Amino acid sequence: MKHSWWKESVVYQIYPRSFMDSNGDGIGDIQGIIMKLDYLKELGIDTIWLSPVYQSPNDDNGYDISHYQKIMAEFGTMKDWEELLHQVHMREMKLIMDLVVNHTSDEHGWFVQAKSSKDNPYRDYYIWRDPKDDGGEPNNWASNFGGSAWEYNEQTEDYYLHLFSKKQPDLNWENETLRDEIYSMMKWWLDKGIDGFRMDVINFISKAEGLPDGEKKPGRDYASGSKHYRNGPKIHDYLREMNQKALSHFDVMTVGEMPGVTPEQAKDYTGEERNELNMVFQFEHVGLDNGPNGKWDLKPLDLMELKQSLSRWQYALGENGWNSLYFNNHDQPRSLSRFGNDGKYRIESAKMLATLLHMMKGTPFVYQGEELGMTNVQFESIDSYKDIETIQAYSELREQGWSEEQVMESIHQKSRDNARTPMQWNAEEHAGFSTTEPWLALNPNYKFINAESEISNEESIFHYYKQLIQLRRQNDLIVYGDYQLILEEEPEIFAYVRSYQGKRLLVICNFYDQEPAFRLPREIHFMTKQLLLCNYKIDEQASISEFNLQPYEARVYLLN
Ligand code: NOJ
Repeated sequence: MKHSWWKESVVYQIYPRSFMDSNGDGIGDIQGIIMKLDYLKELGIDTIWLSPVYQSPNDDNGYDISHYQKIMAEFGTMKDWEELLHQVHMREMKLIMDLVVNHTSDEHGWFVQAKSSKDNPYRDYYIWRDPKDDGGEPNNWASNFGGSAWEYNEQTEDYYLHLFSKKQPDLNWENETLRDEIYSMMKWWLDKGIDGFRMDVINFISKAEGLPDGEKKPGRDYASGSKHYRNGPKIHDYLREMNQKALSHFDVMTVGEMPGVTPEQAKDYTGEERNELNMVFQFEHVGLDNGPNGKWDLKPLDLMELKQSLSRWQYALGENGWNSLYFNNHDQPRSLSRFGNDGKYRIESAKMLATLLHMMKGTPFVYQGEELGMTNVQFESIDSYKDIETIQAYSELREQGWSEEQVMESIHQKSRDNARTPMQWNAEEHAGFSTTEPWLALNPNYKFINAESEISNEESIFHYYKQLIQLRRQNDLIVYGDYQLILEEEPEIFAYVRSYQGKRLLVICNFYDQEPAFRLPREIHFMTKQLLLCNYKIDEQASISEFNLQPYEARVYLLN
């Protein structure tokens, strides 16, 4: 397997709005990020993924871009951004930008033109269809944020497609001029010296011919059309073209966000010889606690399913292709609250989840605050939430007859705002994030969960992440070793072995607050063992052939 810097990286995701506010307006900004670069260097990460900082009316916090080559005024200026890139590079770190090209904002110049008349030259940059005979929407697709995926445009008396909010019209990738504009925009950023792109819902850009109806569930107004727009017929052509026309001229990291992608499809996207992408963000493991009716339909995670799912991905992309490794990002609830224990075992379970993920094969992604053990938040009223998806879900679910308690329970567990509360830098007023009331309320637990206290305590989650990152740096085995799940049938333990050039790594994670017995499989022989990491103080010499794990205990051994 070829060695690459992006395989050896640990990426840290910054959601700029919530990271650090330098000018006291309650909104994070670019100068704020610059202030915290030494913090990131100290953590040991080497690549930063910056969620969108482009000009945007913020219907979806920057994922609705109105100008690809301008910086959002609330975040600063292009000069600030250039300084950021310079400061990142000075510290020998890399910067990857978010590329949102499935859709733009409806306030983007292209769309303003396109909607003005049927013969406008920009018209075909978007996806337009005539109303049905009864005046209704052209097909039955639901938007991913609820309601129809179509919006009527008075001026031209027809509809445009928006798979997300109506302020996020989908671009028409069938149009070659549009595609070329996007590639030259990408080159413009690459020429500035950025180190890659994270590509927003990039497997949605090719829609099925004829935009056929989806299958509607009983009692629903709209259907998921996803099978007609995910991994569509021309997706590989577009990605190869993008690679050839823009990316291949630079040594960059690319990661494509791909809801609904299977391991087999991911092989085609990331295979070494395919010249498409380096890796994808898959969604299988973060969908395991969705009930039959989707995200808001709560279902407890079954560890056996998580073991099978993550292992399937490890095996499928083991030889050719590459995995991204993540539990958290700005769209997911905090993994610690979701899969761990954010009460009594907060510290132990945060470290266990991190061990489980960071010792796997792939490129790990850390989302801001994860390294502090930040948790979900429970705002009492829907009025405190700012996320468009959460707000739309609240009204839809209430309309469907869910009680206030039921809806709020789902929101507390699943809302994207769980991940978006401001970074908790210290215990002072506004958590050191800002000098004023932040745009989204803080999680009140910042008084005891914050960077300052994490840094000062050698036993903290922050220091544990540092160790995980350093271990990866020091051991090719962790980057390139083969993966093998062990103790498959064990319902409480997730354990695996990595092997590379005669060396082996044994990773043992207890996923619950019980104390299950661990029995080393007979086929694992070794002469010596070295404990590399554990989230408890244990006797390093004690035998590992049989013992009981402590709640959420995680151990990493090097075997020889
Ligand atoms: C995925 C992004 O991560 C999410 O935040 C956004 O709402 C949608 N794509 C639409 O851009």
